Amino acid sequence: MAAPLFEIEDLHVSAEGNEILRGVTLTVGTGEVHALMGPNGSGKSTLANVLLGSPEYEITAGTVRFKGDDITDWDPDVRGKAGVFLAFQYPQEFAGVSVINFLRQALSARKGIDLSVLELRLAIMEWMERLEMDPSFADRYLNEGFSGGEKKRNEILQMAILEPEMAILDETDSGLDIDALKVVAKGVQEVRRDRTELGVLAITHYQRLLDHLAPDHVHILIEGRIVASGGPELAQRLEAEGYEAFK
Ligand SMILES: Nc1ncnc2c1ncn2[C@@H]1O[C@H](COP(=O)(O)OP(=O)(O)O)[C@@H](O)[C@H]1O
Ligand SMILES: [Mg+2]
Repeated sequence: MAAPLFEIEDLHVSAEGNEILRGVTLTVGTGEVHALMGPNGSGKSTLANVLLGSPEYEITAGTVRFKGDDITDWDPDVRGKAGVFLAFQYPQEFAGVSVINFLRQALSARKGIDLSVLELRLAIMEWMERLEMDPSFADRYLNEGFSGGEKKRNEILQMAILEPEMAILDETDSGLDIDALKVVAKGVQEVRRDRTELGVLAITHYQRLLDHLAPDHVHILIEGRIVASGGPELAQRLEAEGYEAFK
């Protein structure tokens, strides 16, 4: 039997001596969309950062596996190359790099293919049309006055072009408006239309994202533990009763 696409097993994570994640277990199978929700301070950003390979956190126990390989200690770029997509935050070092040039570098790193600017532009144009993006976006500079929605467009465009097998989307950005949520949901739908095998883990505190994303599985994280897992009905219960019902 083939190993599951993406597995988080009994993950314990600490920062500055405090345990933040206290045994998180979650498996995303091929073609599945999972949403992980939780109130503020439950550990969502910590999980996203750890999956990104952030050195800020200490993994004290547990494993992260991708197609059966233990990737717990892999560098972020090695994860990316293997086919795990983690939406980047944009540090200052990308100042002055356009969206299209960043994608070109990222594609070269991920797949070892060097598309010409023209070839890549054509691929991007096609995706931008599908994602209902303004074509001038490709020539914008990363990080320069991007709104929440534009950051999300950029992420989704990366996901479409890089063709990962597993995408981890972190919706913790407090600047997210409803437009940005729709961009994410539509992007995931469009990419899955071509590649039904894509696995998605969307980490979010926005219940409204679930209305648009329609996840197959919903998990609720409270105080560093998953306290409930289920189908879309869990999101409805959450909407009706709030997190209190799960404590
Ligand atoms: N780098 C860090 N150092 C110390 N404590 C941290 C660090 N990052 C997060 N925490 C603490 O861990 C808990 C969970 O934070 P976080 O993962 O940001 O939650 P969420 O994203 O669900 O709101 C909070 O109590 C927070 O203060
Ligand atoms: Mg957070």
